[in-house]
Amino acid sequence: MSQSQLQRQLGVRLAGTGLATPSKVLTNDDLAKMVDTNDEWITQRTGIKQRYICDENESVLTLSVDALNLALKDADLAPQDLDFVIVATLTADMACPSTATRVVDAVGATPAGGVDITAACSGFVYGINMASALIQTGMYKNIAVIGVETLSKIINYKDRRTCILFGDGAGAAIFSATKDNTKGCIFQSMQSDGAGWKDLYIPRTDSDIPEKDEFYSGMLNTLQMNGQEVYKFAVSTLQKTIDNALDATDTKADDLAMIVAHQSNRRILESARKKLKLDPEKLYINIDRFGNTSAASIPIALDELRKQGKIKENDKILFVGLGGGLTWASSLWQL
Ligand code: UT7
Repeated sequence: MSQSQLQRQLGVRLAGTGLATPSKVLTNDDLAKMVDTNDEWITQRTGIKQRYICDENESVLTLSVDALNLALKDADLAPQDLDFVIVATLTADMACPSTATRVVDAVGATPAGGVDITAACSGFVYGINMASALIQTGMYKNIAVIGVETLSKIINYKDRRTCILFGDGAGAAIFSATKDNTKGCIFQSMQSDGAGWKDLYIPRTDSDIPEKDEFYSGMLNTLQMNGQEVYKFAVSTLQKTIDNALDATDTKADDLAMIVAHQSNRRILESARKKLKLDPEKLYINIDRFGNTSAASIPIALDELRKQGKIKENDKILFVGLGGGLTWASSLWQL
């Protein structure tokens, strides 16, 4: 039986969203004072003009709590209504405890369960796929999924190949059970190819650095990236992942109200849009203001789109994430 033929007892509703950005803005001109780069190169190659970065008081925890409190308000739910919180991040403040348990405590949702997941830029889509499946079992009613990153804390600001790309931020979405079983995730995929791990990794010790890694920037505990390889992977995988979701559900690109894709690079997004012959309005791009915020980029875009009235109840929307791991994921929703 295909996913789209599954008979669901329960539907899943997107109940509310919120986003949080750090207080500091880092522009391309600011970066040009730190490394050998310039606004023209960054704009042409990535579409980015600025990104938000944390100050010493801001963290994955504070950003997550701010985004989730806004999502709770938007959903008109009390913290105690939450059953479970999933935090997708590759920059958790600590390995133990998880970010999620501290978020649960901070918003007043104890004893809701909490877990962090790491699937790099696909993390939020992995998270909503898990949340939707858990709610459809009938065992959980309200689940919050947060995508959050403080990438500025793991960036080598002497490495111009990475420091121009990334930013910090958080987005949260709350999903709730509904008796209307036409609503919810109608197709999902979560996939990976670990053989490509070296294209994007954070070495903790020298032994983590692959032999002959010409992209290693010389600083442990910072993000290392083979940008060209990730670019090739992203262009082909974004296209394939969208096609697979549409084919599996007999959906045409025109039937979608919006594709909410990971904001990796404007050129990567534009290439998928052109191949799909999609109206520019239907593939949201906000990388100019946020940079690439990895797991946070999709929920940040989702919140902006809802607040702008560009995503509404009854719309069909497709989430697509892809990144380090290598990982990729899709989630097609009937809202
Ligand atoms: O979210 C998933 C995670 N990552 C991604 O999605 C990243 C995917 N990759 C990319 O977005 C792009 O590969 C980058 C934006 C990282 C780089 O753009 P590119 O068009 O692939 O540039 P490149 O690496 O091919 O470099 C072209 C030239 C090189 O100079 P030469 O060899 O042609 O003289 C680089 O040294 O640009 C130079 N360069 C820069 N120049 C100015 C590299 N970085 C910079 C820079 N400023 N920041």
